[in-house]
Amino acid sequence: MGISNAKFESSLCGKYGTTSDDMYNIFLSFILGASRICELNDKFTKNLHDFCAQLESITSSMPLIRTLTGLEEARNNYKGNRCGLVPTMGALHLGHLALIEKALAENEVVWVSIFVNPTQFNNLNDLENYPKSLNADVDAIHSIHPKINIFAPTVLEMYPQKIEANSHIFYGLETVMEGADRPGHFEGVITIVSKLFDVVKPDCAYFGEKDFQQLLIIKNWTKTNRPSTKIIACPIVREANGLAMSSRNNLLSKEARQEAGFIFKTLNYCVQKLRTSTEILAEIKRVFASHPSFTLHYAICVDEDSLQEVSQIDPYKNQRLFIAASVEGVRLIDNIALK
Ligand code: PAJ
Repeated sequence: MGISNAKFESSLCGKYGTTSDDMYNIFLSFILGASRICELNDKFTKNLHDFCAQLESITSSMPLIRTLTGLEEARNNYKGNRCGLVPTMGALHLGHLALIEKALAENEVVWVSIFVNPTQFNNLNDLENYPKSLNADVDAIHSIHPKINIFAPTVLEMYPQKIEANSHIFYGLETVMEGADRPGHFEGVITIVSKLFDVVKPDCAYFGEKDFQQLLIIKNWTKTNRPSTKIIACPIVREANGLAMSSRNNLLSKEARQEAGFIFKTLNYCVQKLRTSTEILAEIKRVFASHPSFTLHYAICVDEDSLQEVSQIDPYKNQRLFIAASVEGVRLIDNIALK
């Protein structure tokens, strides 16, 4: 290139008045946006490869691995060690860090992946607005332990041909709740999870109960398709007001984020005081009516294994109450065990 990485980065950042994180986001948005709009013909693919090469050079000073070959080389050094994987889309918060800490306590080698997976988004706006903070994420992970391995591939690395999900069968688990509201979402999730499992080959992979439907679908899929990997479920980590932590919470105004604490308070009240799904749904609708800036997408009591709706709450069965709502265009999901 005839110019050092540091110079290239600072000249780009200086020219556009941005940080290297911003530059990373700009490149990422360009690549995602462009590849969605255009069919990937040869010339276009070459351009994308050139952009990715530049992106590689910007982030090559960070202590992370960006390529599959890099990952395979690193993995060879750890042969025989018990390996844990924590897949994430970055913009890390304490919920993610709890998963990483658990993985660290239970394994000799830990990989954290940071990858905003385009095939699980069915809304381009949501994908483009998804918060990104690679520098801060790397610092947060290494403040837990400097030896944790970070894999942050580019989109082209994970989807070299076409950015599309593989088809999978989830036996109806994908047709309710998040699956019903976000068609194709879970196929995108399993597409990236299976790619990550193929390269990292983890003994254990860690997922949060915050995305309970995702956890269940991944658990079932893994049992059949990657039986050597054990899926470990981790409890929901919450903000001080009870709101389930989420990268998307960063997109909320201070007021909405504070007000959103009512969601968990309502779930808690329902679990403690009400015994039928009819009563629970009526209560949730009543509370939402007093928070008009929040839109309720669904509230549903289901059996934890089948995700089929139940009408009677039975404390001796594994049942769970799920909710999805949005405020200021940001989707919030939460759930609680009905015990
Ligand atoms: P992401 O939303 O970044 O979440 C990564 C993992 O952190 C998921 O297993 C999620 O359930 C868990 N998590 C998020 N918020 C949490 C909280 N408040 N408490 C506990 N765990 C929490 O989920 C994804 O990314 C993606 O779909 C992914 C699995 C990485 C595939 O792209």
